[in-house]
Amino acid sequence: MTNAVYRHVARLADIPAGKTLCVVVEGREILLCHTADGVFAMDNLCSHAAARLCEGRLKGHRIICPLHGAAFDIRDGSALSRPASVAIGTYPVKLEGEDILLAWESGAAELARG
Ligand code: FES
Repeated sequence: MTNAVYRHVARLADIPAGKTLCVVVEGREILLCHTADGVFAMDNLCSHAAARLCEGRLKGHRIICPLHGAAFDIRDGSALSRPASVAIGTYPVKLEGEDILLAWESGAAELARG
């Protein structure tokens, strides 16, 4: 992510602690996870099939897919359990006061879609 700029995507008050929020950046759904260790961001789509992770459950640093129950580490996107085996993309996040900023490379969504 060499040409990334930080974009405002939400406010901390938009996501209660222990909850998630889906935001859309350039047409791509991003899952924001508010934990005791801060806010983490990852693609909202499970790598196993077409399930939206915002409909799953956040447990500590793990998001559980609502469709078949695979777990992913929200800190690095790694797949922690079957049936998923492929990691999900993650994005650096920083907080400026109440503002949640996401490191975003413009055009990344188009490249990912091919
Ligand atoms: S769609 Fe997520 S585990 Fe199958």
